[in-house]
Amino acid sequence: MEVLTTKSDMRAFGAALRKVGRSQALVPTMGALHEGHLSLVRRAGAEADATVVSIFVNPTQFGPEEDFSRYPRDMERDLELCRAEGAAAIFAPSAEEMYVGKPTTFVGEEVLASGLCGAFRPGHFRGVLTVVAKLFHVVQPDVAVFGRKDLQQARLIEQMVRDLDFPVRICTAPTVREDDGLAMSSRNRYLDPAERKSALSLYESLGCAQRVYNEGERDPKVIERMIREQVSPTGGVELEYVEIVSYDTLKPVQRVEKGTVVALAARVGNTRLIDNVVLGGAL
Ligand code: PAF
Repeated sequence: MEVLTTKSDMRAFGAALRKVGRSQALVPTMGALHEGHLSLVRRAGAEADATVVSIFVNPTQFGPEEDFSRYPRDMERDLELCRAEGAAAIFAPSAEEMYVGKPTTFVGEEVLASGLCGAFRPGHFRGVLTVVAKLFHVVQPDVAVFGRKDLQQARLIEQMVRDLDFPVRICTAPTVREDDGLAMSSRNRYLDPAERKSALSLYESLGCAQRVYNEGERDPKVIERMIREQVSPTGGVELEYVEIVSYDTLKPVQRVEKGTVVALAARVGNTRLIDNVVLGGAL
């Protein structure tokens, strides 16, 4: 497995693969890898001949009050995990290598990015789209794989690829959960045992939403109310939002149908967690 830290080495690696007709998949990550990321690496392996995993904690997607400086970093462990999954290369540039000078050009999306997390994290998706666009230019993958836990992010990247004609196919992969159901996240390691226990109410509330949908409930207000009742602030979980939206538009729906998304974000202590369920599908 190659570990590449410069854009020119990354470009040369991709060019060599293309020359011999081998396809390339990219899994963009911010490191602190867990089983969710590894499932994306496996999916990438099934989609292309060689997998590149990028590991870059992207400063432009963190707000000034957010956890950029304390975001978990464990490069040695990440490299071991990627090696064990058969990744062909890691692209791990420094911030100075990735952003030369102070950038003044960014990629923004104006519709899908406005609600859900976009409403609470100004500038976040601009940072995400900008770095993903840069990664696509440098790595030039045939396919890129993203997790559906970050559903709004995945939808925005699909839209960017369509709007800006990136020659890359986007695959999304299901959320991977802990044994008890909590969605895997690099930020779960911030939770103390009591918070970890309380955080489970997020998954349980989405499970209830799925169940009442399966039993015939179609009113989004009823489902939203049920989730709000289930996620109790007395357990230290403070909902930032819960929204019942169309998968295509990410806008609230009047009536729930198969494929409607229930998305939520919450603060558990100082940790911000997100999760979602696509109704009528798997949790
Ligand atoms: O999902 C993430 O880890 C990040 O937002 C991404 C896509 C790697 C961009 O920095």
